[in-house]
Amino acid sequence: MTLSIEQSNQACGARVTGLDLTKPMKPMQVEQIRQAWLKHHVLVFPKQRLTDSHLERFTLNFGPFGIDTFFGSIPGHPNIAAITRESDEKAPIFAETWHTDWSFQPEPPQGTCLYGIDIPPKGGDTLFANQHQALEQMPNELRAQLENQMAIHSAKLGYSLTGAYGEADQSKGRSMDIRPSDRANETHSHPIIRPHPETGRLGLFGTFGYIIGIEGMADEVALNLLLELQAWQSKEEFQYRHQWEPEMLVMWDNRSVLHRATGGYEGYSRRLHRTTIGAAPSSG
Ligand code: SIN
Repeated sequence: MTLSIEQSNQACGARVTGLDLTKPMKPMQVEQIRQAWLKHHVLVFPKQRLTDSHLERFTLNFGPFGIDTFFGSIPGHPNIAAITRESDEKAPIFAETWHTDWSFQPEPPQGTCLYGIDIPPKGGDTLFANQHQALEQMPNELRAQLENQMAIHSAKLGYSLTGAYGEADQSKGRSMDIRPSDRANETHSHPIIRPHPETGRLGLFGTFGYIIGIEGMADEVALNLLLELQAWQSKEEFQYRHQWEPEMLVMWDNRSVLHRATGGYEGYSRRLHRTTIGAAPSSG
């Protein structure tokens, strides 16, 4: 089998073939995939018939498991969360707003792996937005307001007891095992503009939602700036729209892309299994 990496014709993303992920990867292959990941930010591995153990082994090639703070795990696999929606589910689509996974943690995960199991025949795409391009093409006036600013990240709008997935959501019949808690009110700050910990390329980190304010800035001023930032960083020209197939694995770099789920598959179920690649011990 020959490894092939085919770049998408969008703002990021590449399709990887010629690897059988049911077999352990050789160190050279891990390095090739890591370099491709750093270059393309989102890698898609189609036609991979993986078990949960294969998914775990793949993930561990790239770092330790990240900690899914507000999710239950699937039985027997404490590091795998199920992203699910039943065909008749009425709860709002999970993760439909732009975010970067767990940016509210002191050391956010490097990346996320998501494996498609039950994929609807239409809709349910995942959108990604390239945050290097968003910064590089940003108008000077907006960039000047963001330089050297520290964003305050928190999970509270999502996972606190009063958040979008809090107590009120528990009665909406959501199939996912989401576990809101007061821990979501914690805050951690990260620079809005920062070098990628591995490549050094400057990019934007995070977006409004998990970002709830800017250090030293009045809330109202910060909110307006964050909304302007989000409108810019999620522009269509920075996006890659990922269309799922069953038995497809996607890994993305949380340090260089935002992502969000989409709906459009009413009447069909959707199920994917997810791991996160935790912060590397040496990464910033
Ligand atoms: C996620 O944000 O982890 C879920 C993305 C998706 O369901 O498409």
